[in-house]
Amino acid sequence: MKRFILFLALGLILLSSFAAYSEMEHKNKEGQQMMHHKATDSKDTRIQLNVPDMMKEHQKTMMREHLKAVNEIVGALAANDFELVSQTAHKKLGLTDEMRNMCSMFGNQEFEKIGLEFHTKADELGDIAKTKDLNKTLLALDTMLKRCNQCHSMFKQ
Ligand code: HEC
Repeated sequence: MKRFILFLALGLILLSSFAAYSEMEHKNKEGQQMMHHKATDSKDTRIQLNVPDMMKEHQKTMMREHLKAVNEIVGALAANDFELVSQTAHKKLGLTDEMRNMCSMFGNQEFEKIGLEFHTKADELGDIAKTKDLNKTLLALDTMLKRCNQCHSMFKQ
């Protein structure tokens, strides 16, 4: 009888450790699947514009010019030079014929819409800067920058 109880106890211990082990295995597998899922979810979901090769460098150069202009604007704001803020916004980021053409070149209406809105917001920034009101100018800059980010989160070359 004693032997039987010992045997039973051993059996139970073995059984429960096997159950714990297989539960762990299961959790591990789930974890791996979740990680795999995450990797797929974080895939680049931006819309591809299919920019022709010969345009790619040109577009990127323009983009770097945009960033330089924003840099110039922030520097001018820090120096209280509202005239320069206004000029840079209008001349380098505002809606010129060249910018209008660039925005319509890729045959994507949503891209064009955001692009035109962005240049319009740049002109608004240029106008508001003339009031020399720092807070309003910063708000206008913020509004404009949101268009840069809106487009970047949706599109790629
Ligand atoms: C209407 C769309 C649109 C707007 C608005 C826009 N961009 Fe871009 N930008 C793009 C696209 C498309 C790319 C290419 C992204 C890619 O293919 O990965 C890009 C790329 C860039 C790059 C990377 C350039 C390189 O050398 O790789 C910079 C910097 C940049 N943009 C800055 C800006 C700034 C600053 C603004 C606003 C002041 C802005 N962009 C507004 C569409 C836009």
